[in-house]
Amino acid sequence: MSEKKRIFSGIQPSGDLTLGSYMGAIKNWVALQDEYECLYCIVDMHAITVRQVPADLRRRSLEQLSQYLACGLDPKKNILFIQSHVPQHAELAWVLGCSTQFGELSRMTQFKDKSKKHADNITAGLFTYPVLMAADILLYQADLVPVGQDQKQHVELCRDIANRFNGQYSPTFTLPEPFIPKMGTRIMCLSDPTSKMSKSAPEGCVFLMDKPEDIMRKFKRAVTDCEAAVRFDKENKPGITNLLSIYCTATGKTVEEAEAEFEGQGYGIFKPAVGEAVVELLRPIREEATRLMGDKAYLESIYSEGAEKARYLAEKTLRKVYKKVGFVAR
Ligand code: TYM
Repeated sequence: MSEKKRIFSGIQPSGDLTLGSYMGAIKNWVALQDEYECLYCIVDMHAITVRQVPADLRRRSLEQLSQYLACGLDPKKNILFIQSHVPQHAELAWVLGCSTQFGELSRMTQFKDKSKKHADNITAGLFTYPVLMAADILLYQADLVPVGQDQKQHVELCRDIANRFNGQYSPTFTLPEPFIPKMGTRIMCLSDPTSKMSKSAPEGCVFLMDKPEDIMRKFKRAVTDCEAAVRFDKENKPGITNLLSIYCTATGKTVEEAEAEFEGQGYGIFKPAVGEAVVELLRPIREEATRLMGDKAYLESIYSEGAEKARYLAEKTLRKVYKKVGFVAR
């Protein structure tokens, strides 16, 4: 068994990967892959908490894997797998759900937002979604969970669930910490910088596989303000602040460097410059992901091997849990 600390994280294949999920999560996954033992998952079981077209879900799950690889995740260093290939996730989620309170789940802001958005389909799965997420993390005894700001509340609930289980039975689960980047933690929608960039608002969202001309168009149309000063100010200049965060995350420059670079220049110069930085950032990812999608046998070998390793680790935790709650050994 390795001495390295462990990481778990995942993304739903409920839409194409976005610049938000790249900057908020995947970029850090890549940065952490040498230092930690990492499991990165395609959480298809989470995706069906809202309606999906089955053929699209299947295609996007594979595309997501090819994009994980194209972003620089090395399948030799990381366990890359599809959630539904490891049945222990659902099994542990059931056990954890039996000690999670209705009130705790009712407080989850993502549930409140999503149930507004999907008012005609508020399922039990949507409500218990954070329990499945807790199972994902706890099955692997993860120390760290690299996510964007919007998932912090779920990771905190996961800690509460783990703590309670450890107290009620005996120490079983590692308590995970959220790992949230300083920059890029919350990329905002380009057409409405007061809300999160999300696949559900495609006109303000940049997708990893967008063509350069589409990326440029979206940035040129990005909502800003009428002050004409490139300055970081979350309160009063959410559009420019968001563009600065994207620019700095894409180029590695500091906010001060970027502000100095664009001092005295109008948004007509700044917006296309951000667009170009993103085009260059995503170009190699798009090319490599397209190439990998042509090699289905390779992708299959990665996810099959990943699931096998994940099942082995997951079963060790699940066996302990089943014993502690009083199930007869199978
Ligand atoms: P999901 O699929 O909505 O998003 C995937 C990851 O991308 C981050 N993210 C963003 N970061 C910055 N700015 C944005 N606009 C932005 N949009 C998305 C999210 O914070 C997330 O890290 N419940 C999770 C998936 C999940 C999971 C897990 C994560 C399931 N099980 C276990 C970690 C550990 C979700 O819906 O993420």
